[in-house]
Parts: sequence; C-alpha cells; structure tokens
Amino acid sequence: MNTSLQSLIAAAGLMLAAGAYALTPDQEARIEDLLSRMTQEEKIGQLNQISGDGYSPRMSEAATKGTAGSVLNEVDPTVISRLQHDAVEKSRLGIPLVFARDVIHGFRTIFPIPLGQGATWNPALVEEGSRIAAKEATSTGVRWTFSPMVDIARDARWGRIAEGYGEDPVLTGAMGEAAVRGYQGNDLSSPDALAACVKHFAGYGAAESGRDYNTTWIPDVLLHDVYLPPFKQAADAGAATFMCSFNEINGVPSSGNSYLLRDLLRDSWGWNGLVVSDWGSIREMIPHGFCEDMADAARKAANAGVDVDMESYAYLPNLAKLVEEGKVSQATIDDMVRNMLRLKMELGLFYNPYAPKSDASAFYTPEALEAAQRTVEESTILLKNNGILPLKGSQKIFVTGPMADAPHDQCGTWSFDGEKSHTVTPLAALREKYGDDAVIYMPGLAYSRDLSTDGFAAAVKAAGDADVILYFTGEEAVLSGEAHSRADISLPGAQTAYLEALKAAGKPIVTVVMAGRPLTLPTESRLSDALLCSFHPGTMGGAALARIIAGEVSPGGKLPVSLPRMVGQLPLYYSAKNTGRPANEITLIGDIPLEAGQTSTGCTSFFLDAGVAPLYPFGYGLSYTTFEYGAPELSASEMAADGSITVTCKVTNTGSVAASDVAQLYVRDLVGSLTRPVKELKHFEKFTLAPGESRNVTFTLTADELAFHNAKGERIIEPGKFHLWVDNSSLCEAAPVEFSIR
Ligand code: BGC
Repeated sequence: MNTSLQSLIAAAGLMLAAGAYALTPDQEARIEDLLSRMTQEEKIGQLNQISGDGYSPRMSEAATKGTAGSVLNEVDPTVISRLQHDAVEKSRLGIPLVFARDVIHGFRTIFPIPLGQGATWNPALVEEGSRIAAKEATSTGVRWTFSPMVDIARDARWGRIAEGYGEDPVLTGAMGEAAVRGYQGNDLSSPDALAACVKHFAGYGAAESGRDYNTTWIPDVLLHDVYLPPFKQAADAGAATFMCSFNEINGVPSSGNSYLLRDLLRDSWGWNGLVVSDWGSIREMIPHGFCEDMADAARKAANAGVDVDMESYAYLPNLAKLVEEGKVSQATIDDMVRNMLRLKMELGLFYNPYAPKSDASAFYTPEALEAAQRTVEESTILLKNNGILPLKGSQKIFVTGPMADAPHDQCGTWSFDGEKSHTVTPLAALREKYGDDAVIYMPGLAYSRDLSTDGFAAAVKAAGDADVILYFTGEEAVLSGEAHSRADISLPGAQTAYLEALKAAGKPIVTVVMAGRPLTLPTESRLSDALLCSFHPGTMGGAALARIIAGEVSPGGKLPVSLPRMVGQLPLYYSAKNTGRPANEITLIGDIPLEAGQTSTGCTSFFLDAGVAPLYPFGYGLSYTTFEYGAPELSASEMAADGSITVTCKVTNTGSVAASDVAQLYVRDLVGSLTRPVKELKHFEKFTLAPGESRNVTFTLTADELAFHNAKGERIIEPGKFHLWVDNSSLCEAAPVEFSIR
C-alpha cells in the first residue's frame, strides 16, 4: 500500500468536510454575549427538549423560564406562536424556541415512504419532495425535522427499513444528501427552510435479527465502508443536526459514544452542527447496562458529545451538579449551548422568530400533489409482467384486496400530519379513470391481517365477470416503522390464501403490493400475471398506480433492497462476499434423491430450501419497454492510485414506448488484502429515452471511490485488477470489463 497516498486521502477527506454552520462574526459575537449573560439554569434549559402538549401551563412555563430550548411534536400554528411569544417576550433573555417534528416523507402531502423514494433512484425527486415537505411544515412554525434517516438496512424484518433508502451506501448517501438539500434549501434562515437531522448515528439498521432497538455488532471495516459513508455525505452536504441512535455498537450505546460523536463526527469529519439524543436514549443507557443512574447517564452523554437531551430528563436535574463536581466541564456545557444557539441563529430565529401567518393554502398545492404522484410513478417497481400490463382498451376490472381502498394505510409509517381524507386510493382513481361501470369492487379481506376467508367465494364469483383482476395487497401502515419488526415477512393475514382462491376465477391477475418493507412474495410472483411493488406510496398512490396500470406512464422504480424468497435468507444484500465455496451448484430440497449421500447436494454456500439468490435482486425493475446496454468503454484500462477513468455505455430503448431506466455501475475488486464484495455499486444515473432512442451514459470512476478500510482502520487504495459492469440491475449478466489500479 502507498502510505503517502493514504495520507493524501485522509487530508482530502478533512478538507471536503463542510461545516453545518457558517455564522458571521457579528452573529458569533451575539452568541458569545448571550452566553456570558446566561445563568447555568438557562444554559441547561437550552439543552432540554420537551414534547409539546398544547398551550399548557407546563409548556408556557418552560418557554417563559427557559427550561426548554426546543419543543417537538407541536404543530398547531397558534400554539407555536403563543409559546414563541412567551419565549421571546417573557423569558429573561428572550431566546426563541425551535420547534421540531418528524417530517419523514411529507408533512400534509404524504410522499412515498423513504424506502419507496429510494426506489426512484432519482435524487432530484427526493430533493423536490423534501423541499415541498419543508414548505408545508414551516408554514406552521416548525423549523426542524428529524429526517433523513440514512441507516443502511439489510434485514427486512426490521420495521424501520421503511424509513431509509435501502441496503446500499451509495444509493442511500445520494438520497440522504438530496433530502438535506431539499429540507434546508439554499439558506437556512429563509422562513421556509427546515433544519435537517441526520439519523440514527450510527449502525441502528444492523439491529441483530432485525428486532428494533436490538444490540448491534459491527466490525470496524463494515462500519466505515458501509454504515458510516451516508452520514459523512450528509454532514458534508451541510446537515444542521445529527441524532444519535438508540442502539449500542459493540457494547457502547451511541448516546455515550465519544468515538462516534466527537472523534469521528467532529474531529475527523470537521462537522460543527448540533447533536440531539434520540427519544429517551440518554436514560436508556441505564437498562443497556452502561450507566448506573441518571446522573451517570447525563455525564456520559454530555462528555460523549450529545448536545440536546430529547425526553430523557437527564440533563435538567443533573448537569449543574456534574459541573460542580468537576465531572463535566463548564467548557463542555458552553459548547453544547453554543451549538443550540447557533442552530437558532442559522435558522434566523433571533431576527424572525414567528412563522408568517399560517393558512391552509400551503398544503396539498397542485405542485405538491403532482410531485407526490410523479414520485410514486418513479418509485413503483414492475417485478413481473407477462404482457398483461398495461391494460389494453376498455376492460371490465375487478378491484380487490385490503389495500385497494385503505387511505390511512397506503400512507405508511410516520405520516403524523397527513390527512386520509386527501388520500387518493387505487379504487377511487380507477373508478375515475375507467368509469364506475367498468369497475367491480369487493375487498375480499377487510384489512391486511384479516384471517377470515368468508368473503372469498363471493369475490371469486364476482371476479368471473371481469376481464382482469387487480389485487391490492400488502401491509397496514402499523406493521412497519419504529418498534414494528416482524419475524415473518410474508403477506399477513389470509392474503396469500385469497390470491390462491382468486386463481379459480380464471382471469389474469395483476398484484400490487403496498408495504413498509420488502416482503417474501414467491407465491404471489408465481400466481400473478404481473407484480408491482409500490411500498407505501402516500397521498397520491392511487392516482399514480391507475396511470401505470392504464399505460399512461411506465413504472420507473428499481429495487433499493434485495427482495428475499424466504425470511431465513436474511440478512440479504447484493454486495456480499464470494466465500471459498460460491454457490455455482445448487441442489434444492425437492431434488434430493432418497437416502442421498452426505455430499451429493454439492458442498457450496446455499440454502437447500431457498438457494442463494433473492427472489428479485437489488437494482431490478422492469418497464413497459426494453433497454439494451452496450459494452462499457473505458477511457483507459489502467489508472493511477490518485487517478480516474471515464466509463461510457451506450443505452438504447429497444421497445415501443418512452420510459426511464437507471444505468448502474458496479465494480468488483478481484483480490484484496481483505476480501472484497462480489459487486459494489459506485455510480448510477436515471434517464428517459423515447422508443428507438440511444444515449451514452458517462461516469467518472476515481480510484478514491475504490478505497476501503483495512483491519487497522486505515482507508486504503490497493493496486490490482477490477471487474466493471454497467447494467440496469445488480444482476449484471453481461461479461465484465477489466481494468486495474497500478
Ligand atoms: C425515533 C426517532 C424520532 C424521535 C422523535 C424516536 O422514537 O427513534 O427517529 O425522530 O422518536 O419523534
């Protein structure tokens, strides 16, 4: 390894790091002046975040006395305004409050869940949606969102897989960065800018067995190569705040992890924003077995670098005493307060604390609804199509399934502020598009967990009168998200049995899955003539799906996660290692002869009952046209360790309709001092081509992007040979092109 190059890379990493705050000297002086006049109680009050409960005596007192610096979960503009008046006009120093909310995938206009946004592979769209969410939320006075979540998730049992952008660090990093830009806009002090909060730092998605809040064990190499890069990218994009995670990593809870919060985030990455705890996560270091009591928890969190205590109530009663006892320094407290005052200064709250008069016209604007619909169109993944889609001409349609008309559930997890009266369901949209007479509707099952088969016979009979069955299936919103992990990730209730029953109608079946995670769908894939996945698509889900079904637009989504066949394959991700015995010979359980010999099934790395491949791979998604990818052309077959090559690939739309596709560049480092994954996504680009149209997709691949961390924690670039593919899924069936780093 070339050590001078390694230090060059390390230095470049530091230089690139963008600070979250860039205040003027006057603003910094104003903060210093305030700090010099604050009592210890007022300082510690700034570090306390409380959940709102309306304009209550408790809240008003917190605002007036300054025992809270920020409030979460208050979205009533009148309450926000009254509390802000109390803070600014009645507190001793007039320091404004900042109001926070989990605006995760839209405020009123609900966009697809983040996993669905990941399926767009279109960062510009994520930025646009986040900007719209910011405009809607800030109209109430909320100026801080706890989003984006950039936790890599490779286990679909984890309910919070819904809240991130999938399994891959490059895709997640691009989407997280786009969300930060969208929320914050060009200028945080603009009244419609929402401070982003990148969460959950770090490794939360690696919860053992996908059970939420569970322990994580993450080897350093994986932490640095997979889990941390999206956080670094969001920090570099200027995210104003970070949230530490609930989980422990390798025995140290994130809320007390000074390596993560100080050494890495601040000292190495050069980020200078504010760190908030997760809800109660400081207190939870006691049951973790890391802290003796609340004072110990407050001490460890403050010293580790958690600036704000969200709902643990550990800081308020303990920090002053900890300073007196010399367990937390006054300088540490002052730095923590500075971070909070800087956030408020950046947001312009010292000059302009009140939101402009709120009125409902900020919500559900035509622009917002159009963008939400477009996002669903671009995120819906066509997994299978035997030609039934798009529907041709006028047809009699049998619409069925528990998600066909579920306005609450199609909005998914964390849609606190969306109103289901605004949701367009598939049933409503199909009736509008095809006319009431063309649509026969019978739900078959009342909700996703419904186990009753009572409605099946009548539904199958009614389906017999239609030309096609559209089966809307999936999970209710409550089955994914925080604290909603599942050990069985097949369709809940009797939904698979219902599909089996529907087959008796003898009509083609289009199955549309709306869920908060990748589900195991082998039976659904086998029995359906077409299979669409739109995760939980939000407010405009039905309108977009009706357009897709009618062929007005081609589904544009690609899987941001591998879709498993069986839960036992988890964790599952495309960028796995090859092993010493890759599964090039597979004997499945049904093919094993009786009394077969011990080694007769082949001694390679696979499951007897599931093989090794996912049902559908990462990056996969069909459309209503076909694309041909030429062999990638490289500007050179060799690059220096500080160099780059240009990769060009000609793509042609060989079908008969205009559609989008995503060119994905994967590499494999053939031999490493630590073994390397069989494939890693390095770049992607989404584009639209007319029928017959071609274009060259060009990527610049730098040697730096091929760096990885070695066992000593050093980020290195190793000389050697690589394989490269450009294709529209991680399958990469064409032969790779070889290049090397010298
Ligand atoms: C979640 C966070 C969220 C916070 C505030 C916690 O339970 O883990 O993601 O931002 O609550 O609502």
